[in-house]
Amino acid sequence: MLKPSVLRELKSIVGPANCLASPEELLVYSYDATRQESLPGAVARPRTAREISEILRLANRERLPIVPRGAGTGMSGGSIPARDGIVLSLERMNDILEVDDENFIAVVEPGVITGDLQREVESRGLFYPPDPASRAFCTIGGNVAECAGGLRAVKYGVTKDYVLGLEVVLPTGEIVNTGGRTVKSVAGYDLTKLIVGSEGTLGVVTKIIVKLLPLPESVRTLAAYFNDVKSAAIASSDIMAAGIIPRALEFIDQAALRAVEGYLKEDLSRGAGAMLIVETDGPPDAATREADRSAGIMTRAGAVRVVRAGSDAERELLWKARQSISPALYALKPKKVNEDIVVPRSRIADILREIGDVAQRHGLLIVNFGHAGDGNIHTNIMIDDADLPRADAAVREIFTATLRLGGSITGEHGVGLTKAAYLPLETGPDAIAAMKRIKQALDPNNILNPGKIFLEQQCI
Ligand code: MLT
Ligand code: ZN
Repeated sequence: MLKPSVLRELKSIVGPANCLASPEELLVYSYDATRQESLPGAVARPRTAREISEILRLANRERLPIVPRGAGTGMSGGSIPARDGIVLSLERMNDILEVDDENFIAVVEPGVITGDLQREVESRGLFYPPDPASRAFCTIGGNVAECAGGLRAVKYGVTKDYVLGLEVVLPTGEIVNTGGRTVKSVAGYDLTKLIVGSEGTLGVVTKIIVKLLPLPESVRTLAAYFNDVKSAAIASSDIMAAGIIPRALEFIDQAALRAVEGYLKEDLSRGAGAMLIVETDGPPDAATREADRSAGIMTRAGAVRVVRAGSDAERELLWKARQSISPALYALKPKKVNEDIVVPRSRIADILREIGDVAQRHGLLIVNFGHAGDGNIHTNIMIDDADLPRADAAVREIFTATLRLGGSITGEHGVGLTKAAYLPLETGPDAIAAMKRIKQALDPNNILNPGKIFLEQQCI
């Protein structure tokens, strides 16, 4: 419970209508896509950086945890509220402030839905490539906080590659601008890159300047079906090794296929053991040539069927299927432990084999899908409550194998709460100590998103 005097002060900053504290309202802001829950003491919905600055100063004075939140679609618990703290919802800061066609940039507020930004710039012949599967409802502020990746990262990179500058409210309340509107700038430390991916622990982003590209002229989409997951994994590595960089190269295993087919009531795969979706783009001739070469490579690697999307509707169905996997998996078991390991892409077949061994050893159903083009596999351990201890053991073994193969425990979902215990496995203690010194310097009272990235006992 927040002190009544704090609640009054919060109301006077954001207005009574934007300070929520009833149990029903708090419940709405209590969880994210991990389905973990924790009730905050209040929710504030500021409209300006100035209001956020006042809230952070209040939080420092009262030693109150503040948890910034976009749409709550995160998959590592980054926006799960601190018990009795304040959720800082950026939902009202949702304007696309500017699209500059001449300099290929857009300036947006953090609460803008990523898909809305994409549509807006595409209507002007421009392109914002980062494309998380949740783009229809996630916010760009959340994407910046987590450095979201998504389906087009294989060719176009991830959120940090598109953020040129930020307006950020520091934990102690100062409003600062980082970077700017130019592609080049080396003036001082790169605070933009420090903030992007810092999971809401180092500042509250209130304005984002993103780089845009010209919209590719054409797109070609292929679906390839395989008898087994190994040949699909090898085919995906072969495509990249041939020097083709598709704009998306997605992989779906058999269990994920069955789940999504049930969810959409569509028989896409006719019983196949795995599927790849390949999308190329560029001038029509080049996009077609790359798609044709990819089709040939997949056939040689054992694809039993390669289908070209002949219409927008067919293409949209393929992507709808891919983007629906996450919710569809809940038909298999009530809970999932969702990991997003990444390995060098030539090691995808190896890590899938190791995950298969882990599943067998622990008697667990593990479903894999994801961004084969950049080696980022979404490994979902599907469980009932009773399976949790075995799932924990399986996660540790999967992370150990991932690191042994030269990978990382998280490609795009962030450390948040769910991977905090495993971060030392990857970084070692000295790197964690350096990260904590940065945190301490910017947030001396540890008020901003405490307990995320670092285990609570590791916190300052
Ligand atoms: C995806 O690629 O679908 C997302 O990152 C979400 C997920 O891992 O389920
Ligand atoms: Zn993903």
